[in-house]
Amino acid sequence: MQRTCLAIVLAAGEGTRMRSRHPKVMHRLAGRPMLAHVLDAVAASGATACAVVVGPQQPAVEAEARRAVPSPEIFVQSERRGTAHAVLAARAAIARGVDDVLIVFGDTPLVLPQTLARLRAALTDGAAVAVLGFRPKDPTGYGRLLLEGDRLLAIREERDADAAERAITLCNGGLMALAGAQALAILDRIENHNAKREFYLTDAVAIARDMGFAAVAPECAEDEVRGINTRGQLAEAEAVMQQRLRAAALEAGVTMVAPETVFLSADTVLGQDVVIEPHVVFGPGVVVEDEAVIHAFCHIERAHIGRGVSLGPFARLRPGAKLGTGVKIGNFVEVKAASIEAGAKANHLAYIGDARVGEGANIGAGTIICNYDGANKHHTDIGRKAFIGSNSALVAPVAIGDGAYVGSGSVITDDVPPGALALGRGRQVNKEGLGEALRRRHAALKQARDGVKE
Ligand code: UD1
Ligand code: CA
Repeated sequence: MQRTCLAIVLAAGEGTRMRSRHPKVMHRLAGRPMLAHVLDAVAASGATACAVVVGPQQPAVEAEARRAVPSPEIFVQSERRGTAHAVLAARAAIARGVDDVLIVFGDTPLVLPQTLARLRAALTDGAAVAVLGFRPKDPTGYGRLLLEGDRLLAIREERDADAAERAITLCNGGLMALAGAQALAILDRIENHNAKREFYLTDAVAIARDMGFAAVAPECAEDEVRGINTRGQLAEAEAVMQQRLRAAALEAGVTMVAPETVFLSADTVLGQDVVIEPHVVFGPGVVVEDEAVIHAFCHIERAHIGRGVSLGPFARLRPGAKLGTGVKIGNFVEVKAASIEAGAKANHLAYIGDARVGEGANIGAGTIICNYDGANKHHTDIGRKAFIGSNSALVAPVAIGDGAYVGSGSVITDDVPPGALALGRGRQVNKEGLGEALRRRHAALKQARDGVKE
């Protein structure tokens, strides 16, 4: 039978070194709060129940936890008195009884599900405690793992360690699995006799040993257990996350000529044979269908890009942009909350907001949809195969019928019937000879002015 597992995610604490008004675990990596990444990994590792320990007055953290997993149990740690104290905030969940208790830190967002599963698997050999060990390039600040053969004796926090212990390179990644049957007995024995007067979760190791149980320390790569305490560490973790996302996209059949310049979100969906040129940024909520080409320097968020679309260079898709099959959106075009239907084109310099652009329509250079009157947004509907001449302003709400033609430079304030030609501009007049006369007049004025100066 499958072993049951309660995952406890510690997300209390403001993270003072982030110098932020927002809780630490709400800072984003690849467009998602780090807490969501951790909860995803926990869910994918096969945990059967999830408890999240939050600080007092952290409604945003609680809401994010509820968004990320189906039914998390939320516990509040009202005072920050150490990692073991935080785990015991979820005492009621532990007391219910499970095979494994998995403890994960909310500030360790790069951990992979298979590593969490491996940590739990280390308990099946009879150990009561399993700790994830790693060998950091710089061990400063991490707890050190004291080993005897492959048995873990204790974890020493850096500020409580002597010189010989500090020289140990194997460190505590912070993640721990406890045998459910012993978990509370071990946790309840932890005291706060240390440099920080905190209840350290790490003391669980020595206590388990004193109680006659074994402790083990499987190892993992440093990247997976990078703890984020500062904005610098957040940026380093972002780089690792981006490398993973790019590698997965390449593996899935996406071409990127300079992947290191492409920024993806955790939820970016890219179809087969999509081509992404350098310097493209994908915000959250983007789907790109097969064969689309994203040219250089595009910024895209909450948008759907259809099959075979050509986008950019220098295009911006804002939330609600939906591009149908074969659509062409060229340089310096911005699209927001608009559906551009199959084969339509807006090749240069345009704003298309709150609109529908029908199949095969052509939006000329410099077309602006005036969707906002200073108070409200209005809709514009452009029919199939309509042609909007360059430098037109379409003042919403307005509808351009199928196959209609709007003359260049028009300001369109009334609906245009299907097939009609609309001209909304002053009529051109030519005055014979007046150009020459005007030039002479300007020259004379210039001479008179320069003469006065001398
Ligand atoms: C901890 C470990 C250390 C390990 C390191 C790995 C302990 C005592 N030390 O140190 O051995 O090498 O992680 O990154 O466990 N938290 C609460 N309530 C508290 C205290 C902490 O919820 O009262 C949460 C924090 O929000 C954080 C996590 O627990 O998500 C770890 O706490 P932190 O203070 O960052 O521990 P470190 O000093 O990094
Ligand atoms: Ca930390």
